[in-house]
Amino acid sequence: MEHPFFLAACSPRKGGNSDCAADAARLALPVPGLIARVADAGVRPCMSCGHCLSRPGECALDGEGDGAAALFAHAAEAQLTLIVSPVYFYHLPAQAKAWIDRAQRWWALPPSAKPAVGRALSAILIGARERGEHLFDGAERSLRYMAIALGMEWHPALHLYGFEGPGALKADVTAQERISRFVAETWRLMESGRDGYAPARAEMAR
Ligand SMILES: Cc1cc2nc3c(=O)[nH]c(=O)nc-3n(C[C@H](O)[C@H](O)[C@H](O)COP(=O)(O)O)c2cc1C
Repeated sequence: MEHPFFLAACSPRKGGNSDCAADAARLALPVPGLIARVADAGVRPCMSCGHCLSRPGECALDGEGDGAAALFAHAAEAQLTLIVSPVYFYHLPAQAKAWIDRAQRWWALPPSAKPAVGRALSAILIGARERGEHLFDGAERSLRYMAIALGMEWHPALHLYGFEGPGALKADVTAQERISRFVAETWRLMESGRDGYAPARAEMAR
């Protein structure tokens, strides 16, 4: 496995807090980690064309210039994928949501036929607000269902409040240390999962 650790950085803003968090996360593990910027991948939005209803696992939008399949391939290859994203209007930025929607192709497949069975998914979510108990609910719920579509195990996300300007996280060493500890702990839980630890599964109804 070339990259046991995949970081999907989801902000359209280059060099901001999500990119900084992805860098800090990558340094937290002694294994190679790959970072991809989702907003730069040219993911086309799902049009509900129905192709994947008749051909589960396939998407009519895959092809030249579209990065969705390559991003999913990284997630299927890595033992742990972390979504690193700002909150936009209580959800993920549009480019990241477009990528999640493209996982619909696997929704109808039985659990054993999903593309990333046995892989782990978690997230680092960043908002400008200082507080708000529901600030990350929308983003996190979508990601939990993306995990189900792909056959992945969901691990609880890290929530970072109060980061607004592009250099805010870079200037906060304590928050970067929190990221390092979170990543190390998620990795440890994921590894122990192979010996019987079972993280909470998202409910199947939607
Ligand atoms: C369109 C837009 C919507 C946003 N919506 C929210 C929001 O609902 N709640 C919040 O706390 N911050 C919100 N923010 C602030 C960003 O989440 C915050 O600045 C974050 O640190 C940006 O991360 P980045 O530097 O990786 O882009 C919004 C920012 C933008 C541009």
